[in-house]
Amino acid sequence: PGFGSLLVSGLTNLGLPTEFIESLSQLINPGEGYPKIPEAKGAISAIRSEAFFIPLYELFLTYGGIFRLTFGPKSFLIVSDPIIAKRILKDNAKAYSKGILAEILEFVMGTGLIPADGEIWRVRRRVIVPALHQKYVAAMIGLFAQATDRLCKKLDDAAYNGEDVEMESLFSRLTLDIIGKAVFNYDFDSLTTDNGIVEAVYTVLREAEDRSVSPIPTWEIPIWKDISPRQKKVNGSLKLINTTLDDLIAICKRMVDEEEVEFNEEYMNETDPSILHFLLASGDNVSSKQLRDDLMTMLIAGHETTAAVLTWTFYLLSKEPSVVSKLQNEVDAVLGDRFPTIEDMKKLKYTTRVINESLRLYPQPPVLIRRSLEDDVLDKYPIKRGEDFFISVWNLHRSPKHWEDADKFNPERWPLDGPNPNETNQNFSYLPFGGGPRKCVGDMFASFEAIVAVAMLVRRFNFQMALGAPPVKMTTGATIHTTEGLNMTVTRRMKPPIVPTLETQNLENMESSETVPKA
Ligand code: HEM
Repeated sequence: PGFGSLLVSGLTNLGLPTEFIESLSQLINPGEGYPKIPEAKGAISAIRSEAFFIPLYELFLTYGGIFRLTFGPKSFLIVSDPIIAKRILKDNAKAYSKGILAEILEFVMGTGLIPADGEIWRVRRRVIVPALHQKYVAAMIGLFAQATDRLCKKLDDAAYNGEDVEMESLFSRLTLDIIGKAVFNYDFDSLTTDNGIVEAVYTVLREAEDRSVSPIPTWEIPIWKDISPRQKKVNGSLKLINTTLDDLIAICKRMVDEEEVEFNEEYMNETDPSILHFLLASGDNVSSKQLRDDLMTMLIAGHETTAAVLTWTFYLLSKEPSVVSKLQNEVDAVLGDRFPTIEDMKKLKYTTRVINESLRLYPQPPVLIRRSLEDDVLDKYPIKRGEDFFISVWNLHRSPKHWEDADKFNPERWPLDGPNPNETNQNFSYLPFGGGPRKCVGDMFASFEAIVAVAMLVRRFNFQMALGAPPVKMTTGATIHTTEGLNMTVTRRMKPPIVPTLETQNLENMESSETVPKA
């Protein structure tokens, strides 16, 4: 080793600050000492293309698990290596914040759980996580089934009339109806009607997505932000949503005041099992602005993500008829004609694998955002405070180093009797719900929601890409959207006779009083 590296290791052992050592070493012997993070060149035009995580994949193959991408005065570190991702998200999570994500989402989520950092995040996480307890999630299965049944009825009409359907927008409406009831007991009824509040939610969502991919923050320009028609519409929508949320909070407070039930950790009000009701009943002592921020955060977090998962699952299924047959066999055997229950979630093993694999190929969101709050060392590279990171879950999930036939939709890659894949048992090569202390609080909720929807839909219908439909391409905001919708033809299935297995017969006998007969 040269004099420079000997000096660096000596001074590091003495405990001197990294910044000081690095500048000294550069002075003595420029270029020697710490290795430099690879820099991707000429990537500015690529990053502005429609789905920006696609060029990041090519750059990952060229530059490796961590590289720097610079545009003008700004630069980002792109992470595609599971060990580095694990350090940022889990092992040294306290040294990283949500950075630009918090700045972009401030207008809609304030200091809600996703953008919040530090003490506010710690306090709110501790209050919110218990609201999604097992009994609550079990009760939600009925809600998922009822909402999916409404979608089935809509598809019945389309099948009967021979009309094609655009599934992406229908999935978005399905998950909006579900999350509204689940989080604050509000019926958006967006599968049936188009009302002002549904439009307001979409206006705000689109704005959040546009802001996250816009290179210039026009919404911050003084005066313009007050006179631009678009910003006026966004502000009007936010006002309407906030008033609605305030009304719902007030109604719920009155209900809680009239209740006599003792609060415990599995508390649930049968007529209103919502998260809001749990929070108020738990005596959550919080400002109404913070409560609204958290509700809004969960509304957005739980809505477009699950909608995107369903959209890409049905896209993938349309290309693999053999997977669909296996799926339909399982659903027929486990569910027969009834609505799914919580016990079925364990039994719908292949359906679960289909969702696992869809989440691998189309992770929502495709990148996670962080900013370093302290100096750190990632792999062999020293990292300064204030660096912005994109952790590309897309790259992790499709890395040729970790996956055989990485681009192939192959639910069989996960053995049916193996553990449910997650970031821990896959060592951060698979992290559909993130990992570490900021991991998704709705992972089980969302998985069951997707399982119920897929099971009920493939039981009743066959789906094919519509004839003459435009090719399905990706574009991105917070989640991966299609550019022109997912246009499909639905036909009612000619069902084979149901021959329940012994196991499902037993289950049906046991559960008969609790199950809802299918309409
Ligand atoms: C966080 C994915 C559904 C609430 C996250 C994160 C991911 C994720 C990857 C981590 C973000 C990060 O580390 O930067 C998903 C996917 C879903 C889904 C793929 C659907 C399939 C839901 C649902 C809810 C929810 C249904 C609410 C009921 C949240 C919240 C956080 C979060 C509150 C922030 C947690 C924190 O920072 O402490 N989600 N999510 N998500 N998710 Fe989900």
